[in-house]
Amino acid sequence: MNQQEYITQLFVKEDPLLQKVLQSIVEHNMPEISIQPDGGKLLTMLVKMSGAKNILEIGALGGYSGICLMRGAGSGSQLTSLELEQKHVDVAYQNMKHAGFEQRVKYMIGDAKHSLQSLIKNDETFDFFFIDADKGNYVNYLEWCIQLANPGAIITADNTLRKGTVYDATVTDKDTDAIRQYNQIAAEHPQLESLLIPSGDGLTVSVVQK
Ligand code: SAH
Ligand code: DHB
Ligand code: MG
Repeated sequence: MNQQEYITQLFVKEDPLLQKVLQSIVEHNMPEISIQPDGGKLLTMLVKMSGAKNILEIGALGGYSGICLMRGAGSGSQLTSLELEQKHVDVAYQNMKHAGFEQRVKYMIGDAKHSLQSLIKNDETFDFFFIDADKGNYVNYLEWCIQLANPGAIITADNTLRKGTVYDATVTDKDTDAIRQYNQIAAEHPQLESLLIPSGDGLTVSVVQK
């Protein structure tokens, strides 16, 4: 057994609803890249601890992380989820409906770059962010999320360990380099206080000072 298996079997309960989400992703031939169960539980707990009401997700896929985020959020909370693929939105919406969150989720379909610009233009603000789409844009997403952040907001980003490749200097593919850059900026940004938490595939967590 490894560290993640030990933690998951001890702390993360079997979850028939989330298992169904994973099954629906396979059935629809979508990529099997939902956040891992321990990372999902961390999202739920971070949202709960922060008391976030207005949540923004970049990358919906099948709704797994959306359910984890909304499970931690109170009854007056809202999720805005940015997703490129109409098909993914359809599956995510069905799964959010099964979980009872369909009234509180709004999907913006299209390139997240454009959706974020329109949110900024409309002076929208959020308390919690989960970045989990194309790795090459993580650094851009971070800057736009800071612009959209309420004081004290939390910005999280998935896959920031990339199975350990981020700290293996022999690995130099584009996505790994993009994640390295994200982590470096999160670590050094004057408006952020950050830490990479090694749950799931790594979650970089930042608190925004404004
Ligand atoms: N957060 C999900 C997994 C997301 S996988 C979960 O843990 O349950 C990444 C998703 O980002 C995919 O659905 C993909 O279609 C979407 N995506 C990729 N590039 C994008 C872009 N430029 N804008 C919006 N979504 C994008
Ligand atoms: C990949 C993307 C993800 O968001 C993820 O959680 C796992 C893998 C990928 O593109 O390989
Ligand atoms: Mg991910």
